Amino acid sequence: MNDDPQASDSTQARSRAAHAAHEALRRLADSMRDASIERLLHDEPARGERLVVEAAGLHADFTRHRLPLPALDALLALARTLEVEQRRDAMFAGEPVNFTERRPALHVALRRPAPAAGDADPIAADVAQTLARMSAFGDAVRDGRWTGATGRRIDAVVHVGIGGSHLGPQLACEALAHDADARLECRFLSNVDPDALRRATEGLDPATTLAIVASKSWHTTETARNAAAMRRWYAHGGIAGDALRRHFVAVTSNVDAALAFGLAGESIFPMRDWVGGRYSMWSAIGLPILLKIGSRAFREMLDGAHAMDRHFREAPPARNMPLLMALVSLWNRLALDGGSEVVVPYSDALRSLVAYLQQLQMESNGKRIGRDGRPVAWETAPPVWGSTGTDAQHSFFQALHQGTNVHPVDFIVVVPERDDEERRGIALLANALAQVEALARGRRAGDDALAAHRGTPGNRPSTVLLLDRLDARRFGALIALYEHKTATLGWLWDIDSFDQWGVELGKVLAAEIEPLLAPSGDVPASRSPPTVEPLIRWIRKRLDDRDARPGAPRGA
Ligand code: F6P
Repeated sequence: MNDDPQASDSTQARSRAAHAAHEALRRLADSMRDASIERLLHDEPARGERLVVEAAGLHADFTRHRLPLPALDALLALARTLEVEQRRDAMFAGEPVNFTERRPALHVALRRPAPAAGDADPIAADVAQTLARMSAFGDAVRDGRWTGATGRRIDAVVHVGIGGSHLGPQLACEALAHDADARLECRFLSNVDPDALRRATEGLDPATTLAIVASKSWHTTETARNAAAMRRWYAHGGIAGDALRRHFVAVTSNVDAALAFGLAGESIFPMRDWVGGRYSMWSAIGLPILLKIGSRAFREMLDGAHAMDRHFREAPPARNMPLLMALVSLWNRLALDGGSEVVVPYSDALRSLVAYLQQLQMESNGKRIGRDGRPVAWETAPPVWGSTGTDAQHSFFQALHQGTNVHPVDFIVVVPERDDEERRGIALLANALAQVEALARGRRAGDDALAAHRGTPGNRPSTVLLLDRLDARRFGALIALYEHKTATLGWLWDIDSFDQWGVELGKVLAAEIEPLLAPSGDVPASRSPPTVEPLIRWIRKRLDDRDARPGAPRGA
């Protein structure tokens, strides 16, 4: 398929078709604004068959949305018009679906089964080779064959990286900690806030700590500075020069820069430019996950994601979990006047899922220009927010139940493997289902003067994702589900889900503003001052006052 962004005739024609289809859908959504979840559940007995799907160990229930089945048919027709299946196949085939950067997005290749002997696919061979290196290294660290420079066993890992080079590994290490090696602690250092370094290293012994510097580009200033700060932390602990090679490894596609940082070639794990940062936890970026859970469980995580990949490729559109999830999301964008998407895992192990999904969905689809180079005429990525249940019930759920805006919720509910004497696991499940019910049904609260305050309107949509347990396989499938939902929405919205030009400007400006915070950093007269100049002056004054005090020189 032709993915040239320089609007060819066929791209133009596709964009016109997309606009017509979206406009028709918008009119349909307008005509169905009074849809009632309760009534639909009663009047459409086929909902249970059409809007409930099982795949790769996950059970997804989309029945409680204000989505009448005729609208679902219209959404499936939109997916055909927008050639979602062809675009999906193009992604799996390694075509340049990242059309603004003319690159494939081949994260799915990272979780294919190991290639058979004689398989000539160079990507499969490259993936297998890197995974074998990661596994050999991870196993050696875990069983104590790889030691620190003083011969002591490694008992902690500090993973230095940000964005896609941080969020997936942190999420997975937390999610799968119950199956992990408790002797190895994994910490994460992403922010350049000096406090973050202190927290990441507090109580750790440099002699038994391994640092992983993860940066696809090796140009990310936060990661570069944190890596330098970690090197200084080791030096304070007496580990420097060649000894550092037992304590520092890197993951990057910029191998030369990692070599220039002083790392040995065998300590550098490559990642390829056909893996996007926010889709990269399956690559060598996942090294801390492998260290934490072991190479066998890491393989199971890949297998779970691959099972979801196969479902996404092979299930017919009407039974396809990621496609249905994307269609429901798109419909809510139309039928609920924008709004946002809320994610509430009823699982403490998934406490970092929301942060992960914010990057995945908003960095992927927070775009406004279509494939034809023109602004699209529809709203794209909704804001994503949330936190774990039941805590969230005691903070923002009030607004979900009675607020003026309607925000659809993804409830992620994990059946606990065992319970305790207080039956807290069952209480967690009961609470999740109670919230689903309360949002869908609401409640009249009598006829007295306060009834209007006490009653909840209901008809508030939610998706329920059920997992019968949270193991590496199901976790992999869950993340792959959201990845494919995100990519599918990008195709439906006709945007590029795999680039992130919008974050570049901030990086450029940070480099320009930093010198202005220095004592001699006046804005040159020839330059129009930035809008933040008054803020710079305010901060400069405080920095100058601070530096005038004894004992705290700037840059310490
Ligand atoms: O935030 C922008 C971004 O480019 C993300 O897409 C990426 O995951 C992150 O920065 C980190 O990039 P790198 O791995 O190159 O350090």
